[in-house]
Amino acid sequence: MSECASPRVLIFDSGVGGLSVAACVHEKLPHASIVYLADNAAFPYGEQPESVVIERCCALIAGALEHYPCDAIVVACNTASTVALPHLRAITGVPVVGVVPGLKPAAAKTLNRRIGLLATPATVRRPYIDQLIREFAADCQVERVGHPGLVQWAENLVRGVPVPQDELDSAVSGLFDAGVDTVVLGCTHYPLLLESLKRSLPGVAFWVDSGEAIARRVAWLLAQAGPFEESVRSRHTVVAALFSGNAPGGVADYMASLGLQSLTVIGNWPAGS
Ligand code: DGL
Repeated sequence: MSECASPRVLIFDSGVGGLSVAACVHEKLPHASIVYLADNAAFPYGEQPESVVIERCCALIAGALEHYPCDAIVVACNTASTVALPHLRAITGVPVVGVVPGLKPAAAKTLNRRIGLLATPATVRRPYIDQLIREFAADCQVERVGHPGLVQWAENLVRGVPVPQDELDSAVSGLFDAGVDTVVLGCTHYPLLLESLKRSLPGVAFWVDSGEAIARRVAWLLAQAGPFEESVRSRHTVVAALFSGNAPGGVADYMASLGLQSLTVIGNWPAGS
């Protein structure tokens, strides 16, 4: 990007979950523009072999950067971040930020030392979760729930389908029974379900997601890469929302409800570009 233009950030996920991160980036950096890229043709990533996630993630991001040069890349997907970051860093000089479940901030907040970790089945199984618990929450009881339904309910919500509250209640009943006071949202789709999650777990005092920490990291990286123009603000925060499958119906309105006005939404990308 040219010096003193406003900065542009590419935000990537397997679906709409990364929009929760895009909203935090926009709040922290209102002058930055965003390119949103979702590999929803391969959703959910949790059910894909690691090699497929690495290959698709690298190919799609490289292709998007050719069309839309960016100053930072956010892999706003826990599943992809666990496997794809070194490969991405090897193919681009653009700084890459990944996401990890916030067990460290959760351990700093919990008062009863009981933490719930809510993530996809693939993420809760990854050995790095054991490592994060050993490193940051060794004195806590950490209850893990890896349920396949939650990402799909978040995807459906964007299409106007309400969250099935009874099913959500039973999906997270293990956290209710354990009496956790803090829950880590270890998947970027889950902040989109927060209202319903609060109804399922009214005793939880602290909800920890990674959006704000990522936004701070992006701000720091852009400050190193600048100077950028801070006064120019476009009416459209999202320059383009690119979906490798069909663009979800109603996604532009949903994005607008998060404060993310989009200029264009393109499905079946890159073929549809
Ligand atoms: N938003 C992704 C994450 O944070 C969803 C994972 C998936 O597609 O399985 O992990």
